[in-house]
Amino acid sequence: MTTSIPNIRPMREEDLDTVLGIEEKVFLEPWSRRSYMFEIYSNRYSIPVVLEVDNQIIGHAVVWRLFEEFHIATIAIAPEHQGKGWGKFLMNALLGMSDAAEYAILEVRKSNHRAIRLYEKLGFKVTGVRHRYYQNGEDALVMRKDLIP
Ligand SMILES: CC(C)(COP(=O)(O)OP(=O)(O)OC[C@H]1O[C@@H](n2cnc3c(N)ncnc32)[C@H](O)[C@@H]1OP(=O)(O)O)[C@@H](O)C(=O)NCCC(=O)NCCS
Repeated sequence: MTTSIPNIRPMREEDLDTVLGIEEKVFLEPWSRRSYMFEIYSNRYSIPVVLEVDNQIIGHAVVWRLFEEFHIATIAIAPEHQGKGWGKFLMNALLGMSDAAEYAILEVRKSNHRAIRLYEKLGFKVTGVRHRYYQNGEDALVMRKDLIP
């Protein structure tokens, strides 16, 4: 039996070809290279990470630690690696980086049942709707999880 060895580490500029390749495959409105460059070099509140399995990047995420708020800005797993528990693994690792934040929050497309299911399993609850939040006019659900009892 082989064991996959996962590693989560800070995203670097040289990861961006792979990260953008995943973005293009999984998102209707992928983030640009410029956005990721901002997250890596300029946004002091940002934690951009990649998930490597056996030294290969299979997913990535960006979170913003904004004082009491821990905002999951984006998360993606490459299509061929989805449904194997890596999304949950990455989310749990991110939540472990929340430090003194009081709550975690994210927006998700109303139609993204897979992601919504994952967030619910991790204790997130829908707390609001942002109407026509996405470029194609789709609503976003706002989901939130309290991090302190
Ligand atoms: C959403 C995403 C990050 C989840 O990652 P993943 O590795 O596929 O998910 P996991 O294998 O960890 O599954 C976690 C949970 O998601 C749900 N899930 C997984 N596959 C599913 C499917 N095909 N249908 C419905 N729910 C599913 C299940 O509840 C699962 O929990 P379980 O295995 O205990 O039943 C990933 O599918 C993805 O990158 N999607 C495209 C980008 C995206 O939508 N990002 C989120 C933007 S808000």
